[in-house]
Amino acid sequence: MIAAGGCLMSYLESAINIAREAGSNLKNAITKDFKVDVKDSNFDLVTEWDQKIENLITDRIKEVYPDHLIIGEESIFTSSKEVFTEVINENEHVWVIDPIDGTNNFIHRLPGYTVSIAKFNYGQIEIGVVYSPDNDEMFWAEKGKGAYLNNERLTVSNQNQLENSMFATGFPSEVANFRASNLDQINKIALKCRDVRIYGSAALHCAYVAAGRLEAFWEQGLHIWDIAAGWILAEEAGGQVDYYSYESNLMQYKSFYCGNKEINKQLIDVIE
Ligand code: IPD
Ligand code: CA
Repeated sequence: MIAAGGCLMSYLESAINIAREAGSNLKNAITKDFKVDVKDSNFDLVTEWDQKIENLITDRIKEVYPDHLIIGEESIFTSSKEVFTEVINENEHVWVIDPIDGTNNFIHRLPGYTVSIAKFNYGQIEIGVVYSPDNDEMFWAEKGKGAYLNNERLTVSNQNQLENSMFATGFPSEVANFRASNLDQINKIALKCRDVRIYGSAALHCAYVAAGRLEAFWEQGLHIWDIAAGWILAEEAGGQVDYYSYESNLMQYKSFYCGNKEINKQLIDVIE
């Protein structure tokens, strides 16, 4: 991708442009009819737009970086290797994308669906972009250079009291493995904090932590494509990311936490 003036765009600039193009397609598509299929269960659906937008993002990345690897939620991945952790840790250029994070929001014509794009370099997240097309909020971060919402630098909240904290979590789509125990955790924290939100996009929740709108977010059973971009956003805004064991084939985290350092710790103490 060539920037105006003829120079080559940075990974971050490419990701921002691609996320904006993807988001504008989604904003248009959500006003029309589209096909919805069951992926794993009625809790886990996929629309024709998940695949179309993943193809668009993949094509755009490949136009500029033809030798880069891409792991996407819908097409899974393009390398010959089968373990995501190895693909990510052993390669210099791996993009991890979620074309629509919050597919259920998109299907129900609710706000809160996002486009999430991250790039790894030998296992380290280099850049991350989360775009919310509804309100044109572009969250972005680059390793060592901070996190931003549009042009404004972000920092996590400095709240240190649980009772004044706003949390977010999710309803994991893998009901048998994760949803019930995630609900148990909501029960443990709900009487100790100000409130708990579920907007339906893990990527958006992480971005809101980076912006200081939420003190922390947690959820069980998320995959790397749900959280990679949000992870670097939270860290670059001064936040803390913690997780418990993950399954390395699909890079699925038993539980994932991001928040301001103090509240993340207190949250984990209460619900783990
Ligand atoms: C889902 C969203 C949701 C979370 C689910 C994820 P998807 O991703 O991030 O917030 O609760 O666990 O699967 O399926 O909309 O890409
Ligand atoms: Ca997702």
